[in-house]
Amino acid sequence: MRKILVTSALPYANGPIHMGHLVEYIQTDIWVRFQKAVGNECLYFCADDTHGTPIMLRARKEGVSPEELIARAHPEHKASFDSFGIECDNFYTTHSDENAEFSTTIFNRLKEAGDIRTDEIEQAYCRRCGMFLPDRYIIGTCPKCKSADQYGDSCDSCAATYHATDLIDSRCATCGAKPATKKSVHYFFKLSNYADFLKKFIADGYTQKTIANKLDEWLVAGLKDRDISRDGPYFGFKIPGEDNKYFYVWLDAPIGYMASCKNYCDANGLDFDKVWGSEEYELYHFIGKDIVNFHALLWPAMLKGSGFRLPNKLFVHGFLTVNGVKMSKSKGTFIKADTYAKHLEPEYLRYYYASKLNSSVEDIDLNLADFEAKINSDLIGKLANLASRCVPMLVNKLESKLGCLDEQGAELIEKLAEAKEKIVADFEGLNFASAIRTIASLADEANRYVENNQPWATIKTDTEKTRATLTAALNAMRILTIYLKPVLPNFAAKVERILSIAPLSFADVGSVIENHKINEYVRLAERVDSKKVEAMLEESKNEQAAEGPVENAEPVAAEAGLDEPLTAECTIDDFVKVDLRVAQIASAAAVDGADKLLAIELDLGPVTKNVFAGIAKAYKPEELVGRKVICVANLKPRKMRFGVSEGMILAAGPGGSDIFILSPDDGAQPGQRVH
Ligand code: 2FM
Ligand code: ZN
Repeated sequence: MRKILVTSALPYANGPIHMGHLVEYIQTDIWVRFQKAVGNECLYFCADDTHGTPIMLRARKEGVSPEELIARAHPEHKASFDSFGIECDNFYTTHSDENAEFSTTIFNRLKEAGDIRTDEIEQAYCRRCGMFLPDRYIIGTCPKCKSADQYGDSCDSCAATYHATDLIDSRCATCGAKPATKKSVHYFFKLSNYADFLKKFIADGYTQKTIANKLDEWLVAGLKDRDISRDGPYFGFKIPGEDNKYFYVWLDAPIGYMASCKNYCDANGLDFDKVWGSEEYELYHFIGKDIVNFHALLWPAMLKGSGFRLPNKLFVHGFLTVNGVKMSKSKGTFIKADTYAKHLEPEYLRYYYASKLNSSVEDIDLNLADFEAKINSDLIGKLANLASRCVPMLVNKLESKLGCLDEQGAELIEKLAEAKEKIVADFEGLNFASAIRTIASLADEANRYVENNQPWATIKTDTEKTRATLTAALNAMRILTIYLKPVLPNFAAKVERILSIAPLSFADVGSVIENHKINEYVRLAERVDSKKVEAMLEESKNEQAAEGPVENAEPVAAEAGLDEPLTAECTIDDFVKVDLRVAQIASAAAVDGADKLLAIELDLGPVTKNVFAGIAKAYKPEELVGRKVICVANLKPRKMRFGVSEGMILAAGPGGSDIFILSPDDGAQPGQRVH
């Protein structure tokens, strides 16, 4: 028996699981279930990837702490995994004590080994937001094609790549201020120290050949040192000995694989050092081709340098397209896992992806017409049909009792059993599409056998001949079910119930069931209804329309602090557009699930407005009622997670409990304009 550890890439905690993610999670889960079904010990680890700037900013935008945001995402992700039958042995989080400890240990060991250096670098900085700006948080006009609103690293319109400093009229994507530059000391991992090790590691077969070729190009071009630190504000683990510097998310994310394993070992009485640490266990990572760089260079070098075990192989897959196009939020082709599951059977997607997946890194297309045709022809027409033709007849006419195989039946079963070796090799080698083709053609064979033997005709004349035919057909169903079980675990469980047998594994291919009583028939699968496919697409489009374009974070001018001059200019014409009014707080209440927000009702004289204000750490709701404040009365209503916010209350201070509402003098009346 082999002992195997498997991981899938960790999903970011700031977004839902979508159809693209599912390619990998389904691919991994099928492989893991296959390993278990052939009798290997196989443990599957995953976790939420919880750190980094996007998560911090998303939390700010929603008026919650990053901890709250990631705590909310975890059960949501877990539920999506559950509905698609993705059965991790541990689905953990990178924001854990285990991960903090491993990250610190690995960093310290690399430092001791002389693999870490520091250097002062200059980066874009938003004085108004008080933070360094990653390229994705700078927008401006593309220097090449002049398209507006492009990110700081590449242009969506002409695909040019450039430096953020090349953008024309660049601005902070969060607040619109012009970025300044600022120096800061960063920590670098000297990846080039590991060039020889990596060359050999990759040449020895760590990745598929096409990936190895790409990696060779990078290795020949020379490896650059990797910046592994970020300045605060940042959501992550603090670097030992630093007050305001954190590990870059890509340092602690892969270490999250180890942390998930450690957490599992501790909970299950296993010794982590024996599981993760020993050569007895093989280790495989499944990832998408966009993150090869981190997993094939940085990660093995970090492990090598810190004395931890190395992975055996990296399995890289391609991207998903839907009806031939890249999933895109703006084009309405982005489908969430949960939206799919609301309308369509999750196992159908497992079958469809399996029918498309092989060991290459080519992209796969979810063509919805093809999906419908394939499920209806294979799952319904070939597999479910075999059971629906045979089980009711045996139950209703032959006391639910299987007999023995006759010669012809034994031949059929032998043929199906002979395919085991090829199917096992295909699953092992990630050639799921080939396994599915073989299984579908074996199902054709079984259906032909039933056609040839006409049990619906022989039942009138020869019950025992009919029993033998049905015995062969249902034994064929049993073997097909074994082969399909890694792909269709629920379908397999239903067949096991109907046949009244213990859970099947690949070892059972070598035996048959004879003179055995089966249970009542239950329907195994329903046809895909194209109306449901359309409804799923329609709902996806509506969701994207409702969520709108990616919104910028909360205005956080106060966080710039007083020592930072503001740089964004606004003309008097801009300023007069802002309708500042005196308002009186009519009511204030805490917001469930957002510990920084208060829901406030503002009385502006003729109108009232509902506002969500990030002042809950500084004010109790009851002390606010009756207070006069200044508000932005003509702010375009913004949809927030907790409701629509129709304005903004002016306040000063760095944030948290140090925030101070600006109040007019007593004489000012609700509704009066502020000049
Ligand atoms: O690309 C991503 O979605 C990352 N969250 C994957 C991390 S995988 C591992 F290194 F943690
Ligand atoms: Zn800013």
